[in-house]
Amino acid sequence: MKIKIAPSMLSADFANLESDLKKVEAAGADYLHVDIMDGHFVPNITMGPDQVKQLRRVTRIPFDVHLMISEPLLYIEKFVAAGADLITIHVESQGDTMEAIKLIKKGGIEAGIVISPDTDVSVIKPFLDHISMVLIMGVYPGFGGQSYIPETTQKIKTCRDLIGERAIDIQVDGGINYTTIKEVVEAGATVVVSGSCLFNGDMKENIKKFESIIGDQVMWRRQ
Ligand code: DX5
Ligand code: ZN
Repeated sequence: MKIKIAPSMLSADFANLESDLKKVEAAGADYLHVDIMDGHFVPNITMGPDQVKQLRRVTRIPFDVHLMISEPLLYIEKFVAAGADLITIHVESQGDTMEAIKLIKKGGIEAGIVISPDTDVSVIKPFLDHISMVLIMGVYPGFGGQSYIPETTQKIKTCRDLIGERAIDIQVDGGINYTTIKEVVEAGATVVVSGSCLFNGDMKENIKKFESIIGDQVMWRRQ
């Protein structure tokens, strides 16, 4: 199975978004990771559904929308309508997580759950038969460019065991670079998010470099 690469838009040049998005698409990325922050769930603000809708007009790359907002239930339908292909919600946010998963799937798109660094991975258990992705944060959500928290690797391994034979991706977000990517993929990650590393220099070359580092890992996973 191919390990999927999801560049995080947080590190894009917001004055030149269209051209950066074209670069992400041309580089062969699998998703565009879209970080949505509300200044309440996390101490930073990015954008809302109207902006995502505008971005949808200029690129066909699948949008992986990571909701770092306090009340996802109030906004899920808007992000579905804006063109999200996958929405992940934090288990730490307000409202019923199962209800949020159902609402996302009702929109005809994929649903996933996210756990922050201080959350035990066992919380994912009740949702496993209802989701297609678990996102494990490698940093405290809110900002790009932070260092990978080493304890994340064990959480990925535990997550892989809990998932068992189910067709669920494990996505890792935060602190992924040329040094940390091998470790997370070896532990069981199948979707890798990276912002500051991939947007530094030539996106295509950087993705190639990622793929060459994890190349020997690609073959054995879920044959
Ligand atoms: C952090 C965001 C990440 C962030 C990753 O809250 O969810 O997606 O952009 O950035 P890097 O790869 O720079 O750690
Ligand atoms: Zn993210």
